[in-house]
Amino acid sequence: MFCNIDLESIDITKEAPQTEPERQYYFMAKAREYVKALKKEIGRKPTFSVNTFGCQMNARDSEKLTGILLSLGYEEIESEDADFVIYNTCTVRENANVRVYGRLGSLKPFKARNPHMMIALCGCMMQEPEVVAKIKQSYRFVDIVFGTHNIFKLAELMCNRFENGKMTIDVWEDTTQIVEDLPNERKFVFKSGVNIMFGCNNFCSYCIVPYVRGRERSRKPEDIINEIKRLVADGVVEVMLLGQNVNSYGKNLENPMSFAELLREIEKIEGLERIRFMTSHPKDLSDELIETMASSKKICKHLHLPLQSGSSRVLKVMNRKYTKEQYLELVDKIRAAVPDIALTTDIIVGFPGETEEDFLETMDVVRKVRYDSAFTFLYSKRTGTPAAAMDNQIPETVAKERFDRLLKEVQDIAAEVTGKDAGRIMDVLVEDINRQDSEFVTGRLSNNSVVHFKGGEELIGKIVNVKLTEAKGFYYLGEMTN
Ligand code: 5AD
Ligand code: SF4
Repeated sequence: MFCNIDLESIDITKEAPQTEPERQYYFMAKAREYVKALKKEIGRKPTFSVNTFGCQMNARDSEKLTGILLSLGYEEIESEDADFVIYNTCTVRENANVRVYGRLGSLKPFKARNPHMMIALCGCMMQEPEVVAKIKQSYRFVDIVFGTHNIFKLAELMCNRFENGKMTIDVWEDTTQIVEDLPNERKFVFKSGVNIMFGCNNFCSYCIVPYVRGRERSRKPEDIINEIKRLVADGVVEVMLLGQNVNSYGKNLENPMSFAELLREIEKIEGLERIRFMTSHPKDLSDELIETMASSKKICKHLHLPLQSGSSRVLKVMNRKYTKEQYLELVDKIRAAVPDIALTTDIIVGFPGETEEDFLETMDVVRKVRYDSAFTFLYSKRTGTPAAAMDNQIPETVAKERFDRLLKEVQDIAAEVTGKDAGRIMDVLVEDINRQDSEFVTGRLSNNSVVHFKGGEELIGKIVNVKLTEAKGFYYLGEMTN
């Protein structure tokens, strides 16, 4: 989907406007001329590839980058042997950084063969000064470096690079700015992520996100609602509301509004069928939200509620602001209000000072809650966070052994829990043709479980009734009944 801007009508011989988004429209019009010249020179449409690492926020940012590149006249391709390659990076764990450096190295031969190729790096990793210093020193073939706060500036940075031929670096420490109304290109026609807020104020002691994504900023409700209405008019039936901590939505708005109130407004949008959101911090999950979820017809029966650790002692050092008991009470309250809700979580193993007893507390919560699925992570030391300076880091072998035990427990429970709806007839949103068998389609239940059943392409984006005939552990087989 593009926003309705007529780039042809912009006079690029004038000075660039100072206000946004007009300034970016101007640079998009200008960059388009550079891309046209490149097309003439190489005798074909220039190509691009956007590569996303990390979370759904990054995936959404990549759709925005893709929208801008399409409006400049590039063509998207799968291969990284393209004329413009972007890595939208993640830095939440060290191995995310290692992967980016590895992939970057593999781009060098492409660039050696194609002198027109441009390589851009953006996202969370670029917010770390050591990373930018390393790129400047050891990866001189990179053309553009920018961060998380100014992705809307892609066209302006490209113009800069086209004009001066030097590595362009523009990383902002923080921002209060939210630039609306730029192009974006959705990956799926029928579902979309929608940012409702940016940044995080929680400073969990292990986490680098508040340092690289800045302070919490909520979008205005009217901007969110208008965006969703436009998406629905364009074929979207499911939205995923995105924020690092959606439960604190609206606190910093001129006219404060709670997340539950926002959900109730979104629920009213006609044509919208399903509402998902992530991520919820347990400390901010209100009774009002639970009531709203219970009475809603559109909010999906799925809640991602990161636990991180089951030990109240560790949770305190993690700065999570809840105890094991409070977390379990919250789970009980949610389940009482929304009985068939699927619960998923994030858990970190091997946080500094974690003892076997602490770890067993985590196992205990896992057994009590019986999650539908859980993302389990080995603690990763992130420079600059309080936990990185703690002197009781856990040996990797100990952490790994605990991790394996946890993973097994989580998987065993998930296999039992996710099969519980076998035999029922449920609503499925069809997402795609099945990858293994083209006579089948793949869709999702409200609770996020995957279902495969016989059907064709015409069902994609539709919600249909499916009898869940067989539970296969992590997915169901079914038969369409309508
Ligand atoms: N080490 C391991 N996992 C981490 N996460 C965040 N920071 C770290 C870290 N330093 C995990 C948390 C969070 C998820 C997105 O990533 O579990 O919920
Ligand atoms: Fe990181 Fe905690 Fe913020 Fe989540 S809530 S992004 S874990 S600091």
